[in-house]
Amino acid sequence: MKANFIINGKAFEFEFAPHAKLLDVLRENGFTEVKCGCREGFCGACSVLLDGRLVNSCKIYAASAKDREITTVKKIGTLHEPHPIQEAFVEAGAVQCGYCTPGMVLATYTLLERNPNPTDEEIKEALDGNFCRCTGYVKIIDAVKLAAEKVKEND
Ligand code: FES
Ligand code: FES
Repeated sequence: MKANFIINGKAFEFEFAPHAKLLDVLRENGFTEVKCGCREGFCGACSVLLDGRLVNSCKIYAASAKDREITTVKKIGTLHEPHPIQEAFVEAGAVQCGYCTPGMVLATYTLLERNPNPTDEEIKEALDGNFCRCTGYVKIIDAVKLAAEKVKEND
């Protein structure tokens, strides 16, 4: 089947099997910033925003995302134009292998959009669906708090 998607503000048409998951269609078409982890909806590596809502793209049929707006971490910021959240993750030492980072950044982005001053508990709750095998989470929580400060400064 074929379907249209708006990805990071641009229109695309992709062909894929009816049962294909959004994660695979994105990665097969070059959006490799969306990472593949557990494929079971547990790790959050495959996070994207679908119409602004944080979802696990491994659990979504691509067909159900047709004509909808998909945002990957590259729309939030890039290596040369990083978002304050990405700067905060680097400065706080919250990026080691980096595999979880795209999902962590998107989860942080949606958290700070709805709650600019999260407590530690609120940060833990918001990142509950995103696993990190490297950092032990302490630096990630520090990064989210630093990100909150940076986002406020940039407003
Ligand atoms: Fe989707 Fe783990 S790969 S939640
Ligand atoms: Fe390696 Fe999080 S930095 S999984």
